[in-house]
Amino acid sequence: MRTERLVLRGWTDRDRRPFAELNADPVVMEHFPSRLTRAESDAFADRIEEHFAVHGFGLWALEAQGEFVGYTGLSVPRFHADWMAAREQPVVEVGWRLRRDAWGHGYATEAARACVGHAFEDLGRSEVVSFTTVGNVRSRAVMARLGMRPVAEYDHPVEGHAAVPSVCYLLRRSASVQGA
Ligand SMILES: CC(C)(COP(=O)(O)OP(=O)(O)OC[C@H]1O[C@@H](n2cnc3c(N)ncnc32)[C@H](O)[C@@H]1OP(=O)(O)O)[C@@H](O)C(=O)NCCC(=O)NCCS
Repeated sequence: MRTERLVLRGWTDRDRRPFAELNADPVVMEHFPSRLTRAESDAFADRIEEHFAVHGFGLWALEAQGEFVGYTGLSVPRFHADWMAAREQPVVEVGWRLRRDAWGHGYATEAARACVGHAFEDLGRSEVVSFTTVGNVRSRAVMARLGMRPVAEYDHPVEGHAAVPSVCYLLRRSASVQGA
């Protein structure tokens, strides 16, 4: 997919090194339980590629000015939370993780708008959710800019760590059409 300034595309092997760098950046990973090693980052990239193979959509590699800057995309969560029962199945999340020097340009919001449009117009979804830790102000601001509304607070399970207080936001296709 293309937007005015961005390309959302499938992953290549060349993305793995800059992806590992952003997953090792303490500022990028501030709201996650730990930074990722190169092996963990590669395993994450493998899971992203598997998700595309299973679902036909996923966390697209994001390019700005011809350079890999992170990902933005759609994914089916791998965990269960009580709020999911009230949502369209399977639950589809819109998510993002960008290199620090790509923050502050509106890239995450621009790319996420394209993903949400794809979910509603091409995949026939009625709802898209997004979730993050309560304190992740930048991520919550992207959700708000997309027109999403908070619908649930919950304890997000994290393997090998204590659960993290988190918030789920919702965007309905009807609301997105009205807001357009
Ligand atoms: C979450 C994250 C993607 C948000 O990035 P971001 O740059 O704050 O968000 P956007 O890309 O939407 O950019 C918005 C900012 O760009 C600014 N901006 C500059 N030029 C702009 C333009 N042409 N159009 C729109 N906004 C522009 C906006 O004013 C806003 O700045 P502000 O934060 O000072 O108000 C980023 O912080 C990140 O990758 N964090 C680490 C990973 C993470 O926590 N992911 C979420 C886990 S759930």
